[in-house]
Amino acid sequence: MAKKQERSAELLAASHATHNGVFITGASSLEVKEDVLPSELFSDDYIICASLGNCRCASDGKAIKQFTSHARVPNDATQVALGHETVQMVVQAPEVTGLQAGDLVFVTPGHSAQPVNPDTFELDIDNGILPSLGYSYRYLGGLRQFNAVPVKAIAYVKSQGFGNLFNPIKNTQNISIASLAHAEPYACCYGTNKHLFTFDSNGDFLYGVPAKARLAYLGGTARMAMINVTIVAEAADEDLPELILITGSKRKLEEMEDFLLIKQLRDRGVQVVLIDRSDPDIVSKLTEHGRPHIVWTNFASQDLYDQATAIIERGGNINNYAGASDPAIGFSMPIDAFKADSFTDEAKTMIHAAHHTLGLNDFKRESGVKKDGVCRFIGFAGQEERLQAYVDALPDSVQIVHDAGDINASNIIAEAERYDDVFIAGSGDAAAQAYADNEEALARGAAVMFVDGDCTIFVRSRLSHYTTRHQICGPNVPWFMTNTSEPHADDMALHAAKPTNFDWMVRGVVGLKDALSMMDAVEAAAPFGSFFTFAELPNLPYVEVSAQAFKDAAEKADDGQTKQALNDAAAVLEKENDTWSASAERALYAAYGVPYPLDLE
Ligand SMILES: NC(=O)c1ccc[n+]([C@@H]2O[C@H](COP(=O)([O-])OP(=O)(O)OC[C@H]3O[C@@H](n4cnc5c(N)ncnc54)[C@H](OP(=O)(O)O)[C@@H]3O)[C@@H](O)[C@H]2O)c1
Repeated sequence: MAKKQERSAELLAASHATHNGVFITGASSLEVKEDVLPSELFSDDYIICASLGNCRCASDGKAIKQFTSHARVPNDATQVALGHETVQMVVQAPEVTGLQAGDLVFVTPGHSAQPVNPDTFELDIDNGILPSLGYSYRYLGGLRQFNAVPVKAIAYVKSQGFGNLFNPIKNTQNISIASLAHAEPYACCYGTNKHLFTFDSNGDFLYGVPAKARLAYLGGTARMAMINVTIVAEAADEDLPELILITGSKRKLEEMEDFLLIKQLRDRGVQVVLIDRSDPDIVSKLTEHGRPHIVWTNFASQDLYDQATAIIERGGNINNYAGASDPAIGFSMPIDAFKADSFTDEAKTMIHAAHHTLGLNDFKRESGVKKDGVCRFIGFAGQEERLQAYVDALPDSVQIVHDAGDINASNIIAEAERYDDVFIAGSGDAAAQAYADNEEALARGAAVMFVDGDCTIFVRSRLSHYTTRHQICGPNVPWFMTNTSEPHADDMALHAAKPTNFDWMVRGVVGLKDALSMMDAVEAAAPFGSFFTFAELPNLPYVEVSAQAFKDAAEKADDGQTKQALNDAAAVLEKENDTWSASAERALYAAYGVPYPLDLE
């Protein structure tokens, strides 16, 4: 029997027994608890997986704090398995799934784009949630040792546009488990960058981070920002950015000067400028080398959003990665006055300027109003001739809602719940207010055009967080906005095929039983980096990644195996300049007598 099958058979046997997991058990209540998978889940309707471990994500904090009021946690939950940055081994899978015992996989985190019952995936508008890995299930989460996933979830997740639920890992050479576990944030950042758009000199959409661009990461010492920079750095030399600006606390920026990633970018000719976020001249520091074409937010605050809008180059893109914890914060966008030679020209220009993505989770866009959507005209009272020019230029397939007098159109409706394209006439405060009043009624992916412009609108961050957010469009718009992506399986598959090394970011490791010590320590000190929990090495105490910290922990350890594991890994860290590696993991696994999963054949 191949070693991989032997190990998965051992794990399958263990999965029937009581095992450990980290569970959210109430608002602000996180516990390491024993649990067991119900025997009926060991059937042809379920896939059983063993977790190799999980990386901590800052977003977990929100679910821990909010518990059942979180959009992804079921209203009646009592125990939710935490963890969505995980690597798992399949230990039992029915043939129809195409998975085999021993396969190493990433699990796609987003499972539904509509509110459903997480057990049945049946639509439930009133009580349903948006189920996802690590937030919605008792029997599935990166931080429980064994997991059960219903087979029907595979087809459901695909139907929701998220791709394959399981992404088999194709390459485990020269990579650590902790690096592999970055697949989810990798896909999130990769997808985020894929959805970025600007326009080229012909007015065509230019997707992604443009070559030789000036980039700014505000709150850029964030873990996600560093993952994003790592992805940007994968470009060929000739496509690298010309400038990367990073703001953060002085303490973390000083640490960053020594990061290999930063040194290598500088060696490759990229100007990397680190700017103290408390510098009173931060805006001039962020613009003195030229305004950035792309700005990512990595911390949700009005100050930081104001910096983004103050520095962005005309025609650039602000990626609202951080989103908003506070619904009141957002982005001020000044919109220029617009005047065409005729109403016909104006309608043609504004309708062409509207744009929408081709489909759910598709980053490509097409110009024009949504073909079968609802168009709303605001501020057109008394301007029937102007409105008629629009109506004449629109496809017959759209429905129209307007506030003017009689016009000649067959597809007028009184109102709609959501609007796909909104044209706002008028300027100044009245136009800005019309936008504010109607922002909540914008459909996901809606386009808003200010046909007179000459106003400053406030785009609320809460409504602009996901890729499908609405867009402010038109020749008078100064810059564009995109936002975070829901990690897509195709982007996780990229990491599965050719994993990117994130070992330099791994700053702490722990076994499952002591995971809460790691979480408390990270919460309290907000250090830079990634923190990995080994599910297969439950007794490993929380330890920072340095030879000295491992040696110190070894002295305190009271069981022989743990002492040996820590000392052996310390020796590896000593040789490798205190950087995490597969060799350090091998040393830990060997001392605990557990086969290292990435070496199994
Ligand atoms: N797909 C998604 O939607 C998704 C996924 C993951 C994360 N996120 C969001 O992305 C953001 C970054 O996540 P992360 O996990 O990388 O977080 P993180 O590592 O905790 O980093 C947050 C950063 O914010 C900075 N910061 C703290 N206080 C600040 C302040 N008052 N002003 C400006 N910056 C401040 C900190 O830098 P200094 O200590 O150097 O100041 C820190 O590096 C978060 O808002 C998170 O919710 C979104």
